[in-house]
Amino acid sequence: MKTIVITGGTDGMGAALARHYLTAGDRVTVIGRSRRKFDALVAAAASEDPSAVARAEFIAADLSLVADSRRVVNQLLAHHKRIDALVLAASFIRQHRQTTAEGHEASWALFFLSKYLLVTGLAPLLRAVEQPVIVNTAVPGTRADAVDFEDLEMVQGFTFMRSNAQQRRANELLGILATDDNPNLAYLTWGPAWLVRSSFAGEVGKGMRITAAVLGRLLGQRPEAAIRPIIRLIDDPSPGRAAYRGATQHTLTVGDRDEKDATRLAAAIEESLR
Ligand SMILES: NC(=O)c1ccc[n+]([C@@H]2O[C@H](COP(=O)([O-])OP(=O)(O)OC[C@H]3O[C@@H](n4cnc5c(N)ncnc54)[C@H](OP(=O)(O)O)[C@@H]3O)[C@@H](O)[C@H]2O)c1
Repeated sequence: MKTIVITGGTDGMGAALARHYLTAGDRVTVIGRSRRKFDALVAAAASEDPSAVARAEFIAADLSLVADSRRVVNQLLAHHKRIDALVLAASFIRQHRQTTAEGHEASWALFFLSKYLLVTGLAPLLRAVEQPVIVNTAVPGTRADAVDFEDLEMVQGFTFMRSNAQQRRANELLGILATDDNPNLAYLTWGPAWLVRSSFAGEVGKGMRITAAVLGRLLGQRPEAAIRPIIRLIDDPSPGRAAYRGATQHTLTVGDRDEKDATRLAAAIEESLR
């Protein structure tokens, strides 16, 4: 029985993965905000296999808060001996800059700070298995220089595109840190091959909301279909970093200073989280 931890496991692709692994007989920890959605997905899995109830765990957390991310890490360290797969799929799209109650830029906090805390904090549990996997749903393929080291929280010049590119690149650099630390780890940055008909949770303008809803309904794939390549990658992992769009492997973005940038990023994050 594998142990799978899924952030954003209450909806969209994260929920589809949670249902899949509960039905497959694995132990699944879902991290999200909505207990109601978690109960519904466990009920769906239990209708196929009643033992799913005993193998499902919910940790309620707002992962845009550093305190909550730290609490999740501590709770998992206290109650689990191992993690076979960590899926990072929490998503809340903000078109404009917002700050959290802790003073961090909200998109950076959710799409990077929480992932940094989970990946580094849960390293001991991932090290306890032979072939651990992290699937980070940060779409690969952004520019190597997308991180603004002088202003990581984009106090100046925030745009949705810049913020999105920066978190995607930072999550690639996080893979360097994680695989340097654990050579057995498979660290995958993964994005769907095309649009997925999910909840598109977020606070966006009317234009973006309508476009996502219309395109999602017309062209979007079902989350259950979109996650098939993720399941294959989790079930048959290869150590090291890799990038995927759907089932297709992409070349990793390589910059001149990747190792240095990864180290610099870690130092800046540790400083900002002090
Ligand atoms: N859908 C697409 O076409 C697409 C395209 C490219 C990339 N992706 C990426 O794929 C991943 C999954 O996307 P999706 O569209 O399937 O997701 P989604 O349906 O929008 O669901 C988002 C999930 O994130 C959770 N979440 C949101 N804010 C949170 C917070 N502050 N703290 C903790 N959990 C939070 C939600 O939990 P609650 O509902 O419980 O709050 C929900 O489970 C994301 O990383 C997304 O960026 C998706």
